[in-house]
Amino acid sequence: MISPPRIQENVFLGEMNSLGIAARARYFVSVTSLEALREALNWASAESAQPLILGGGSNLVFAGDYQGLVIRMANARRCWEHVDGDGATLVLGAGENWHDVVMYAAAAGYRGIENLALIPGTVGAAPVQNIGAYGTELRDTLLEVSALDRHTGHEVTLTNSLCHFSYRDSVFKHEPGRYVITTVRLRLSRSRPFSLDYRDLAEYFDGQDARCLTPLDVANGVMAVRRRKLPDPSQLPNAGSFFKNPVVALDTWHSLQQSYPDIAGHPGDDSAKVAAAWLIDQCGWKGYRNGRVGVHNRQALVLVNHSNGNGQDVLALADRIRRDVEARFGIALEMEPGVVGSP
Ligand code: EPU
Repeated sequence: MISPPRIQENVFLGEMNSLGIAARARYFVSVTSLEALREALNWASAESAQPLILGGGSNLVFAGDYQGLVIRMANARRCWEHVDGDGATLVLGAGENWHDVVMYAAAAGYRGIENLALIPGTVGAAPVQNIGAYGTELRDTLLEVSALDRHTGHEVTLTNSLCHFSYRDSVFKHEPGRYVITTVRLRLSRSRPFSLDYRDLAEYFDGQDARCLTPLDVANGVMAVRRRKLPDPSQLPNAGSFFKNPVVALDTWHSLQQSYPDIAGHPGDDSAKVAAAWLIDQCGWKGYRNGRVGVHNRQALVLVNHSNGNGQDVLALADRIRRDVEARFGIALEMEPGVVGSP
């Protein structure tokens, strides 16, 4: 068996997934360069060890131990390119911490990602689910992604349109395992207007003149709003929103509104996004605790690991919630995190 010394065996992943699930990786390697990534993938194929690319582990549920090779992307890189009068391109290694990057760009006076402060995870994971919050999505500023295409073995560049972004979705979800994101380029600006219309943010900045705010003020406001409503994974392990907000046809939305006049959601031109948190809350799940796992008491969309819950506990709870919502509203909730490992 080829066993480069960098590859560790039987590695504990509890601190590498934000749900704090005590899974183990049969093989594990942390990579900081494209070469090391290629080497790790070659090793995995020679050993028939299924690779799993891990970023911050904030959008994953370990159903059990992982029997293949976990490759942790740890390539840190931040540099500015094409700085002109107003704009600049921020080039980021996949292993950078997303929130640190938001604060770095905001402190430098650049706008575009300040609403995405405090989203856990790494830069490389951000395009996969097109992270979004408070009326902003990553696709609004993403210029291009560099990735290793495992079909060809070459590094490729995918422009924004080739990433096929939509709500919590991208080509990286449609072709799982094909691309390993190595670098992300964002186009930021010193003057683009802030997006402060989302209700919680509008309330926070109520009465303040947006022209007097800096990107750092907005990022700090977002952090305050998030801290009021969402649990900090380092205090109470969680994977953020556990379900996507379901998108329904407009006539379904109108009939739901007739039955439930206070239903929360965002109707658009040809479909509506229903607030999954509202649906779950209506079924009485908010604040529910079943020994080791539960539902957060301020945001029904977030499942939490109170103490040593395992992946099976979390998935069983998610299943009960999903069945309840479907029985009551006829809406099938789709899970947001991916499930890996085997029980
Ligand atoms: N609501 C309830 N009960 C709750 C929580 C919320 O009824 O327990 C209602 C609220 O009254 C509100 C509506 O649901 O009218 C929507 O709630 P909120 O504004 O908190 O947003 P969300 O749709 O639940 C989404 C994202 C979050 C993001 C916020 C803010 C998804 C799946 N989630 O949540 O993203 O922070 O909007 O933009 O789209 C994440 O992805 O991990 C995440 C936290």
